[in-house]
Amino acid sequence: MAATVADLLRAAAERLGAAGVENPRREAAWLLAGALGVSVSDLRLHPERAVPPAAAATFARWVERRAAREPLQYILGTQEFLGLTFRVTPAVLIPRPETEVLVLRFAEALRDAFPGPGPLRVADIGTGSGCIAVALCRLLPAVEVWAVDLSPEALAVAGENARQHGVADRIHLLAGDLYGPLAGMRLHGIVSNPPYIPAAELPELQPEVRDYEPRLALTPGEDGLGVIRQLIAGAPAHLLPGGVLALEVGAGQGEAVLAMMGGAGFDARGYRDDLGHLRAVVGIWPRAGDDRPGAERSREWVLRPGDSRRR
Ligand SMILES: C[S@@+](CC[C@H](N)C(=O)[O-])C[C@H]1O[C@@H](n2cnc3c(N)ncnc32)[C@H](O)[C@@H]1O
Repeated sequence: MAATVADLLRAAAERLGAAGVENPRREAAWLLAGALGVSVSDLRLHPERAVPPAAAATFARWVERRAAREPLQYILGTQEFLGLTFRVTPAVLIPRPETEVLVLRFAEALRDAFPGPGPLRVADIGTGSGCIAVALCRLLPAVEVWAVDLSPEALAVAGENARQHGVADRIHLLAGDLYGPLAGMRLHGIVSNPPYIPAAELPELQPEVRDYEPRLALTPGEDGLGVIRQLIAGAPAHLLPGGVLALEVGAGQGEAVLAMMGGAGFDARGYRDDLGHLRAVVGIWPRAGDDRPGAERSREWVLRPGDSRRR
């Protein structure tokens, strides 16, 4: 006799809990819903339903993969980001909620800096799944994105997501190192969620991240700020006057990155994520006649630890 939804969920939640998965009941339900091609609420409404053998076999394989701490998103193949569903594979970082803050603040800064109806040319450096590039196209109808990544496998996933969301004609996928493929281009904005985890911290990460997400997406090595330094140093040569540079940074790196952007001549300010960490740093490159030193202006806007204001 075929097992019921309730039987399979009970056994899977026990297996996942024993393997150290944090929300075993919830994750078991997501996996079974995926294997059956139904919603989680559907499962809850029909716990007595018999699960067909093929779906039960898929579910059993997925539970074992999850018990080995493979991220749920790689097993199911999708992740939500700013209300959009993105395809994800082990070639790309799984989009995170803190990156939603980066995208929204970047879009807001671009709109403020260039309020007219004209086209907005922006670069997304280290595009990965393409979540930033695609979300920007959906948020700002005038945006065209040059999306760069060192990984051709990641660019293939970004291309799939761009097609899936109907914005492939506005996203140019470029393989290469940071600004390498953008030689000679001047842009209205540059956005990046770069690798920023110091190499020494990798062993402390959750197994889902440490053992499965691409190393190239996680760490630039050494102190974690190497790629961020290069992005800030190279930005003035690629930005139009008034252009916007927006970077995601690691929890604890915000103050240092604000100081770096200020030192390079940007008006920079930081934004916190839902956990209260300063995770997005947005800088405006001065226009002609704007002659106050950037470093001074940046200090005015630094959010100090414990500052409860949300911006
Ligand atoms: C933290 S992931 C961000 C992915 C995606 N933008 C997101 O926010 O989910 C960093 C991405 O940068 C790419 N990358 C790392 N070093 C790079 C470099 N030097 N030049 C271009 N891309 C790089 C990685 O392959 C990875 O896809």
